[in-house]
Amino acid sequence: MKKIAITGSTGLIGSRIIELLKNEFRFIEILQSDIDITNRDQTAAFIKKIEFDLLLHLAGYTDVDGAENKREITQKINVDGTKNVFDAVFKKNKQLIYISTDFVFDGQKPPYFEDSVPHPLSFYAQTKYEGEKIVGQKAMIVRLSYPYRKSFTPKRDFVRNIKLALEKQKPIQMVTDSLITPTFIDDIAFGLKHLINNYSPEIYHLVGGTNLSPYEAGRLIAKTFNLDDSLIRPTTYREYYENKAPRPQLSDIRSKKNHFLPMNGFQEGLKKLL
Ligand SMILES: NC(=O)c1ccc[n+]([C@@H]2O[C@H](COP(=O)([O-])OP(=O)(O)OC[C@H]3O[C@@H](n4cnc5c(N)ncnc54)[C@H](OP(=O)(O)O)[C@@H]3O)[C@@H](O)[C@H]2O)c1
Repeated sequence: MKKIAITGSTGLIGSRIIELLKNEFRFIEILQSDIDITNRDQTAAFIKKIEFDLLLHLAGYTDVDGAENKREITQKINVDGTKNVFDAVFKKNKQLIYISTDFVFDGQKPPYFEDSVPHPLSFYAQTKYEGEKIVGQKAMIVRLSYPYRKSFTPKRDFVRNIKLALEKQKPIQMVTDSLITPTFIDDIAFGLKHLINNYSPEIYHLVGGTNLSPYEAGRLIAKTFNLDDSLIRPTTYREYYENKAPRPQLSDIRSKKNHFLPMNGFQEGLKKLL
């Protein structure tokens, strides 16, 4: 059985990967209580000591709006942390998968494939792209987009946030002139299973099968969970993000290379949450 070291295993995505793949691989969780990846010596010593075949690097500072005002810590975790992990893994001659995001693109000229040229807009996105440049062509880079999953108490994904607001009868504004590509986290896990077993140091997109506007996504969520969709009010990209970190407006992200796993569209993914 392949041994997979994993950072960020307590997070939204990492915890589900372990839940779903625990019988496929032996996971060695690298918890923040074991090492702070921003500490180079600690990271090098810990990674040197553990035995693994491949390291899945998910740990990151992931609050996109928060990152604008917390630049130092975002830079330390996403850039220095990634460098520390990368250097330690390569010293041992082991494989690395770096998890990145569709936010590395600017959303001006969709669609975006694995070979499209990144141009990040927000500070968070810049640091994730820096991470990509650090691992370069020596590791696998897997970009994800708008992940959602069954309930996870420590952190809510966008589906959960909308569902919760509608359940509380709270009106919400959702953007009509923008595109997102929601991705079912279970598909990410099974896609990663394939990529781990067929490792090659190149870029992959593991993204959902549907591109739609956040407004349409909100209405589908309301319909699926039998909630009142009249609480969803249309707004524009410009208005909604006026005081927030910029996101790619048209994040229609696709894969040229995923011939191994059909990814659920948003409607199918939501049905699976039921
Ligand atoms: N969520 C999204 O919308 C999204 C979209 C595209 C790509 N991604 C990428 O996917 C990856 C995972 O995202 P996620 O949403 O699952 O993350 P998350 O829920 O925010 O969890 C972040 C993880 O990183 C760990 N971590 C943070 N700082 C650390 C440090 N200094 N040293 C060691 N570990 C540290 C956290 O540990 P603690 O639990 O101890 O704090 C946690 O396990 C990230 O790289 C993110 O950029 C996420």
